[in-house]
Amino acid sequence: MKALVKEKAEPGLWLRDVPEPAVGAGDVLIKVARTGICGTDLHIRAWDGWASRSITAPLVVGHEFVGEVVELGAGVTDVAIGDRVSGEGHLVCGKCRNCLAGRRHLCRATVGLGVGRDGAFAEYVALPASNVWVHRVPVDLDVAAIFDPFGNAVHTALSFPLVGEDVLVTGAGPIGLMAAAVARHAGARNVVVTDVSEERLDLARKIGASLALNVSERQIVDGQRELGLREGFDVGLEMSGRPEALRDMIANMTHGGKIAMLGLPAEEFPVDWVRIVTSMITLKGIYGREMFETWYAMSVLLEGGLDLAPVITGRYDHRDHEAAFADAASGRGGKVILDWTS
Ligand SMILES: NC(=O)c1ccc[n+]([C@@H]2O[C@H](COP(=O)([O-])OP(=O)(O)OC[C@H]3O[C@@H](n4cnc5c(N)ncnc54)[C@H](O)[C@@H]3O)[C@@H](O)[C@H]2O)c1
Ligand SMILES: [Zn+2]
Ligand SMILES: [Zn+2]
Repeated sequence: MKALVKEKAEPGLWLRDVPEPAVGAGDVLIKVARTGICGTDLHIRAWDGWASRSITAPLVVGHEFVGEVVELGAGVTDVAIGDRVSGEGHLVCGKCRNCLAGRRHLCRATVGLGVGRDGAFAEYVALPASNVWVHRVPVDLDVAAIFDPFGNAVHTALSFPLVGEDVLVTGAGPIGLMAAAVARHAGARNVVVTDVSEERLDLARKIGASLALNVSERQIVDGQRELGLREGFDVGLEMSGRPEALRDMIANMTHGGKIAMLGLPAEEFPVDWVRIVTSMITLKGIYGREMFETWYAMSVLLEGGLDLAPVITGRYDHRDHEAAFADAASGRGGKVILDWTS
């Protein structure tokens, strides 16, 4: 089968013929239809410090996908051939305290699809049936391809109650955009989105932000004033991984405000701890998705009319992966999809 492979420990990805994955007991084999390009894939392609420390070549990359089940391993009973599925890309140990307690998103030995084992940028991917999400509600194929990052957005956005609250989202990348859409849909009063890219701020406006603010030109406090907020934001969703964004967020929260932080900073950095303590701000780190409560929420949010269409801005055949990756790396558009069906 064809697959996008990190063949050598150097920058690049190569479309190669590789053997189809083995289907072990408890696994399902999925014929991949579409995949989403994630920041992680960009790191692996660029072969930066994180990638060269974390990845062992050769590796089939990719973890955001939708496809159709074509084969069942021994003992699989609750997934059927022909089911349309996406996959939870965190493979958990099943044995640690959190796994045994049903808190699989807190597993201490998570292995990432397309990071620690062969991934989904291929004609076929094999996964444990327990990592598969069957789309029982009809869903657009492109949206189904990005359930993994959509889940990051939902997990973060629904960490704290949002109804009637004023929400600040720092970072209008694909995940920040989806989080803003979820906050809006879930009943927030104002959703303010910040970024430094005008193109991405335009997407934030399309997805329903009350205000999209370019922080290279204006300050968040100006946005507060424009919307008539007097005491700061109730909920913050940090989606940029940038130190200045978290610092600005902390400075613009109300007393007792809640911050859910998904953005992954490249390094340690100082923040105003006195403000966090004296304003009694809650700061919660978010990793991945809750299995499978977040996935349930995603499906029913879409069923209830949540529209993610503006988030997807690039569609390419898998053979045009160079152009697709350049598009995704530009940092200007939304999500980029690769089609594997032709
Ligand atoms: N915790 C997890 O499980 C998890 C999973 C996936 C991604 N992530 C992280 O979540 C973040 C969002 O992912 P993404 O794919 O949308 O990333 P992205 O890099 O596409 O988006 C980040 C956005 O932040 C913007 N930005 C830069 N400086 C800013 C500032 N000062 N204020 C506001 N915005 C600023 C950038 O212009 C960019 O549009 C990234 O940091 C990523 O590494 C975490
Ligand atoms: Zn991803
Ligand atoms: Zn575990």
